[in-house]
Amino acid sequence: MDKSIILTGVRANADFTLGNYLGAIVPMVNLQKKFSKEHQINIFVPDLHSFTTPVNHKDLYLSIIRSLKYYVAAGISLNDDNVFIYRQSYIASHSELTIILNNFTYFGELSRMTQFKEKRDDDDNVSAGLFDYPVLMAADILLYGAHWVPVGEDQRQHLELARDIAIRVNNKFNSEIFVVPEEWSKQQQFIGRSDGIRIRSLTNPTKKMSKSDTDPNGSILLSDEPEIASKKILSATTDSNGIIEFDMEKNPGVSNLIHILSLLIDEPLEKTIKNWDGKTNYLELKQAVADEVKLLLQNIKKNMSNIDESELMRKLESSEYLMRDVAVQRLYKIQQAVGLRP
Ligand code: TYM
Repeated sequence: MDKSIILTGVRANADFTLGNYLGAIVPMVNLQKKFSKEHQINIFVPDLHSFTTPVNHKDLYLSIIRSLKYYVAAGISLNDDNVFIYRQSYIASHSELTIILNNFTYFGELSRMTQFKEKRDDDDNVSAGLFDYPVLMAADILLYGAHWVPVGEDQRQHLELARDIAIRVNNKFNSEIFVVPEEWSKQQQFIGRSDGIRIRSLTNPTKKMSKSDTDPNGSILLSDEPEIASKKILSATTDSNGIIEFDMEKNPGVSNLIHILSLLIDEPLEKTIKNWDGKTNYLELKQAVADEVKLLLQNIKKNMSNIDESELMRKLESSEYLMRDVAVQRLYKIQQAVGLRP
């Protein structure tokens, strides 16, 4: 029996944030523990996606390897034969499929992507790479026939576009070339959450916590010194109601902290809300979050220093060898459908 595929990636253009960790890495670690016997797990670095936001080209390669180590430090096992870990740019089919899919994706669709619109507004020199980012992401997913794609709430629109492209191509060629990834609500059920995860900036909680935030106090980076990270939490912006009330619209700062705490202690959000609702001591809540963040970063630091890099490189090379073959086979199907192969 073919195993259904769970697939995700985190870009390596800058250090990972707590948002990346809670929104994408933790769900993957939990899924590996729970499902790796029944499912195949694909974890990859979308390294060709690195250039759509500022990047230090000199450090990029090291940053790619470090980003893979974060998965291992978070608990992904390198000894599991159902887990494949690879780099996008080492499997050329990702780029080739993107060029083909570009022709089945509409200019209007890509122009409506929220992430494109936000980044376009911040930058005068918008690259074709930024515009095309969701098509490359669709290729990443469709090449392997992934059903499950655990990503944070900010990637929902991109996942939905990947579904639309898959359905459109399948219909046009009257075939089942692509597996259509499951829809958003099913994806959330699968990772055991009622809603998508969106961690907010600590200083401006109406915005998401992001690698490209220019305010260093807005984000917790996984490489932050635990003490510094703890201070960032203690000085996070909260409302001045005087009473803790979970409401992402009205009280985004304090609600963000409750959300972070629930994920860090692996407790259903409703339970964490119930524990804190109505309390008046904001500092007590901040201290609880700061302690958990500190503990997390101390553990990551310790685990990072224990990773055997040669073992990681062996896993990468063997996964890339196998996945290259899988990707070429799927690419061949679409090359045939569009008339590039007999
Ligand atoms: P990236 O690097 O921007 O984000 C990687 C993952 O982290 C999640 N994330 C968050 N989750 C919750 N709160 C936040 N503040 C937060 N910030 C980031 C993102 O939702 C994402 O899951 N385009 C993808 C990378 C990618 C990909 C793919 C993912 C490329 N191809 C194919 C899955 C499948 C991205 O957003 O990277």
